[in-house]
Amino acid sequence: MRIVVTGGLGFIGSHLVRWILQHQPQVDIINVDALTYAGNLENLADIADNPRYQWQRISITDRPGLEAVFRDQGPIDAVMHLAAESHVDRSIQSGVPFVETNVLGTQILLEVARNAGVSRFLQVSTDEVYGSLGGTGSFVEHTPLSPNSPYSASKAGSDLLARAAFETYGQDVVITRCSNNYGPYQFPEKLIPLFITNGLDGKSLPLYGDGLNVRDWLYVEDHVRALWMVLNQGKAGEVYNIGGNNERSNREVAQTLVSLMHLPETAIVPVPDRLGHDRRYAIDSSKIQETLGWRPETPWEQGLALTVQWYRSRRAWWESIKNGTYKDYYRDQYGTL
Ligand code: NAD
Ligand code: TYD
Repeated sequence: MRIVVTGGLGFIGSHLVRWILQHQPQVDIINVDALTYAGNLENLADIADNPRYQWQRISITDRPGLEAVFRDQGPIDAVMHLAAESHVDRSIQSGVPFVETNVLGTQILLEVARNAGVSRFLQVSTDEVYGSLGGTGSFVEHTPLSPNSPYSASKAGSDLLARAAFETYGQDVVITRCSNNYGPYQFPEKLIPLFITNGLDGKSLPLYGDGLNVRDWLYVEDHVRALWMVLNQGKAGEVYNIGGNNERSNREVAQTLVSLMHLPETAIVPVPDRLGHDRRYAIDSSKIQETLGWRPETPWEQGLALTVQWYRSRRAWWESIKNGTYKDYYRDQYGTL
């Protein structure tokens, strides 16, 4: 089996590629990744020479580039589509790259995959497309889409294009919507790696607003296992929610992290709130649990301790990102970013 993974040099994509190479010996992977600021060759340095793996530096908005991959490396059996602009705060600064990659790029990828006769297309999406919850309830697969940020609106757009491809052409598409992930190799602009790396550097942990916004946290490897299950056993045209059943307020996350890192509580510093900040996300993942037998396996305390330990031991990885030198290396090797 030969699959294209997009966004394999990012956080979740790199875990997915490594997991497939380890657990699915019959699968070859072509990783299509444009190496934006969020992509990092270090994330897959340990498997870069694996003969079952190759990386193609192509943007999903580059139709001729994509067509060449599907023609020259084919036949491709499946696409696992993770490439995206993924950070809400950046989307608040400018939504344009989000629309280009997440909406336009997904449409181009869907068309190229369809024309190449690819049997299955997995659209990896997020619970954020459902919008924000009040104090109770959780998102189910038929909750109406109600995205609030340019990021989530662009992801909702890509989901709808994937759905339309199924309805219009009968393209075999499955969609997953997962809650917030955490774990090693997450870019230190997101809450957990930002707080850990700031803490390790003796800097403050900037908590937005009242700190009572709630996210449902899932360890990244649990997500990756779910993606593989949905790719192989999911029903065409269907959506599968994936969640950790692990709701935590941001304040609680911050407090757990300062305690794990032996920092004073005063390290947590309130800062002005994010614009349009979604209050609460919670996922009902009964469908994937009941129909495919998936369950989250990594307890929060264990996953968070592992994550803190990873950032402690991989200082060079995140320091080069935070001081920008990882980009110098890319510029030398691969030209302008
Ligand atoms: P990430 O930002 O860490 O990585 C994104 C990757 O996509 C990078 O390697 C980047 O170089 C690549 N990329 C960006 N634009 C591209 C383009 N135009 N062409 C080709 N490659 C491009 O993202 P992540 O956190 O790993 O998220 C992966 C996917 O999972 C995204 O689709 C995201 O919406 C979804 N998701 C993420 C979370 C989460 O908590 N991180 C939760 C649910 C769903
Ligand atoms: P983030 O990791 O950006 O994920 P998302 O916005 O996609 O859920 O943020 C998670 C939560 O943490 C969100 O409620 C915003 C909050 N947050 C902070 O309080 N401080 C920060 O510095 C960051 C980056 C996020």
